[in-house]
Amino acid sequence: MNKVQAGLLRSALAASRKSYSPYSDFPVGAALMADGGKVFTGCNVENASYGLTVCAERVAIMKAVSEGHRKFKALAVVGGRDKAVPPCGACLQVLAEFCDPDLPIFLAPLNKPNQVVALSLETLLPHAFRLNTKH
Ligand code: THU
Repeated sequence: MNKVQAGLLRSALAASRKSYSPYSDFPVGAALMADGGKVFTGCNVENASYGLTVCAERVAIMKAVSEGHRKFKALAVVGGRDKAVPPCGACLQVLAEFCDPDLPIFLAPLNKPNQVVALSLETLLPHAFRLNTKH
C-alpha cells in the first residue's frame, strides 16, 4: 500500500467515526484528495425523513467543490463492518462530474482497514450521464 492510499484510508476511517447514522447503524467515511494534495473528508449524515440522508462521498465532494476544488486525484471510502462497500450510484454520478474516469477509489471495511480493494471510477460507473445540450 502506498503512502497516499494509506493516508486517505486513515482519514476516511477517522471521518466514519463522525458518521450520524442512528437509523441504519451503517457508518461510512470518505476522504477525497484534491489535485494540490488537500484532503476533504465526509461522513454519512442521516435524517428522520430517511430520503434526506446524504452519503459520506457526497459530503466530501460538496465540501471540496464549495471550497474551490474541482480536480481530484483519489478517493478512499471506509464502510461496511467486514466487507467493503463501493459508493452508491448517485455518488458515482456526482464524482463523474468532477473526476477523470481513471480516478482511483480505495475501499476498505471498518473492521479490516488493511483489506483494501482498489477500483477506478470508470469500472464502477462505465456509462456516466453527460448532458448533451445539442438536442
Ligand atoms: N451510504 C454512504 O454514506 N455511502 C454510500 O455510497 C452508500 C450508503 C450511507 C447512507 C446511509 O446513511 C447508510 O450508508 C445506509 O445506506
